[in-house]
Amino acid sequence: MGLLDGKVVVITGGAGRLGRVFADALAGAGGRVVVAEVMNDHTTGVVEALATRHGGAVVGMACDITDAGSLDRLIDGTVARFGHIDALVNNAYPRNAAYGRKFDEVTYADFVENVGMHAGGYFLAAQRFIRRFEQQGHGNIVNMASIYGVVAPRFEVYAGTDMTMPVEYAVIKSGVLMLTRYLAAHCAGRNIRCNAISPGGIRDGQPEAFLERYRAHALTKGMLDAQDVAGTLLFLLSDLSAYINGQNIVVDDGWTL
Ligand SMILES: NC(=O)c1ccc[n+]([C@@H]2O[C@H](COP(=O)([O-])OP(=O)(O)OC[C@H]3O[C@@H](n4cnc5c(N)ncnc54)[C@H](O)[C@@H]3O)[C@@H](O)[C@H]2O)c1
Repeated sequence: MGLLDGKVVVITGGAGRLGRVFADALAGAGGRVVVAEVMNDHTTGVVEALATRHGGAVVGMACDITDAGSLDRLIDGTVARFGHIDALVNNAYPRNAAYGRKFDEVTYADFVENVGMHAGGYFLAAQRFIRRFEQQGHGNIVNMASIYGVVAPRFEVYAGTDMTMPVEYAVIKSGVLMLTRYLAAHCAGRNIRCNAISPGGIRDGQPEAFLERYRAHALTKGMLDAQDVAGTLLFLLSDLSAYINGQNIVVDDGWTL
């Protein structure tokens, strides 16, 4: 028996760096997984690889989380394919070409656009899925937040690199955490719950000096791998966490202690 046997889970951004590892873990636990993505050559390739590994348990569907019509088509397509939807994982990471600049270089227009696409997209997906969840009488939402929605940036870990912690990200992820509590309260009495996961940094070829400085604040490993977060996602999607609601689970090797 898998932890997610028979559960239908839609994961936005499911072909991304974390998303593809999550989708693989969800299908491995018995889930039926819809990888909801902006479809291009890369994301299509990721979906094909997952489908080859898991057969019909993983399917890709086109989706733009900033477009209500696209989300409604995703919901209808998922129900047509699997009959119902047990859970939504808000995991996509929309950003424009200017995203990632240092504080002084961020324009008002870029700030508003990036916050709007990401936090606004998480809101919009939740709104559309909750409508469906209400009709079927149950539902579960997991929002991917971040340690940077929990604590202030440690800018010193980026010294000597081109990297920074974008100001938009702090606003987005702290907002996603409060959106999580808002949705849990909003859905009271409707058998729909909502929780968040706040991962620490995920290893992805960053400069060694940065990894060292980051590790100095952690308790064991430092930067994590996506696989290190997947177990918490499985738990929140499973019935083991049935009465956990409105919470945030920080998975960061103690970095925010
Ligand atoms: N990578 C990290 O270190 C880290 C740490 C903590 C939290 N997170 C969070 O985890 C989540 C996934 O991050 P990631 O690093 O895998 O990002 P990623 O950029 O590798 O993947 C994100 C995916 O989202 C998709 N996407 C972008 N815009 C979209 C839209 N409008 N509609 C639907 N899909 C869209 C992209 O095609 C991409 O495949 C994000 O919420 C991110 O903030 C990441």
